[in-house]
Amino acid sequence: MQSVLQNACPERKKMSNYHTSVLPEETIGYLNIKRGEKYIDATLGGGGHTTQILEQGGKVLGIDVDQEALDEVEKRIKDQKFLVHVSSEKEQANIRLDADLILVKGNFRDIRKIAKKYGFENVAGIIFDLGVSSHQIDDANRGFSFSKEGPLDMRMDNNLSVTAKDLVNGLHRNELIEIFKRFGEENFAHGIATEIVKTRKEKPIETTKQLTEIIERVMPAKLNRMAAAARIFQSLRIVVNDELHAIEDALPEACSLLQTRGKLIVISFHSLEDRIVKHLFVKFEQQGMGKALTHQPVLATEKEIAMNVRSRSAKLRVFEKI
Ligand SMILES: C[S@@+](CC[C@H](N)C(=O)[O-])C[C@H]1O[C@@H](n2cnc3c(N)ncnc32)[C@H](O)[C@@H]1O
Repeated sequence: MQSVLQNACPERKKMSNYHTSVLPEETIGYLNIKRGEKYIDATLGGGGHTTQILEQGGKVLGIDVDQEALDEVEKRIKDQKFLVHVSSEKEQANIRLDADLILVKGNFRDIRKIAKKYGFENVAGIIFDLGVSSHQIDDANRGFSFSKEGPLDMRMDNNLSVTAKDLVNGLHRNELIEIFKRFGEENFAHGIATEIVKTRKEKPIETTKQLTEIIERVMPAKLNRMAAAARIFQSLRIVVNDELHAIEDALPEACSLLQTRGKLIVISFHSLEDRIVKHLFVKFEQQGMGKALTHQPVLATEKEIAMNVRSRSAKLRVFEKI
């Protein structure tokens, strides 16, 4: 049997850095950075988009749920000419509001509260570059990748209490079917959930490899097992991190934080995410908040896809506040 683990994502090996930003020129082009203006990067990741804003003179509030992302950006950007303030529990009295970059650990579903605390309430632009970073996928210990053996974790925020292992071992078969169908759009949801329930009766499913082997056992050899594993892993990740609700909560708040002609930019990687973004932008238009500048999403060019395979599924949409 051809192993999914052996064949997955050879392109990723070529990437040595933390994360390669997708659609960088398009994102910065739409933001049209002005020196001294404020921007929020709601998904800091490796800080690629943030660095571009800083280099053009913008001030950034960078948010991420993953402490590793914040540590990475702090380490890299502190060596440069920018003044960085890192948020902490005890900072109330001495927040450096003059900083070029403020780094905050938080969930973007709380964007309004976080922005208010740091004086980013009337901003020129906000970026949401959704999903996980290459670093998160490449780190086997995080459990995001079906192609790397590690614990079945998948939490972006390690303070969350429920992991993918808890879902796979604890949910009823019908709940697993629902997750695989709804968030993975997986045709073999019944078979995979049934095999999970059978396997876990003998021994708990604790690693990515065990789950991948279950998917391989169920999927007919002629079908793309790698794609099925990607869909199943993605569906569990969406539930562990409550990703779709976070987007639904955050975008209306983000829109309310924009100044007139401020831009809200969302890059999504999944049809369910893009559908939410598209519908919310229509709703914002109907509420008279502004207009969508992209009626069709902006996609990566062939050149970008050749350099960064992750950009293949990226869809960028922009909303402008009036
Ligand atoms: C695709 S990466 C962003 C990459 C970044 N734009 C760059 O250029 O390096 C997505 C990041 O968003 C973070 N993230 C995902 N959901 C989040 C949420 N609800 N709140 C805050 N951060 C989130 C992830 O931890 C990850 O670091």
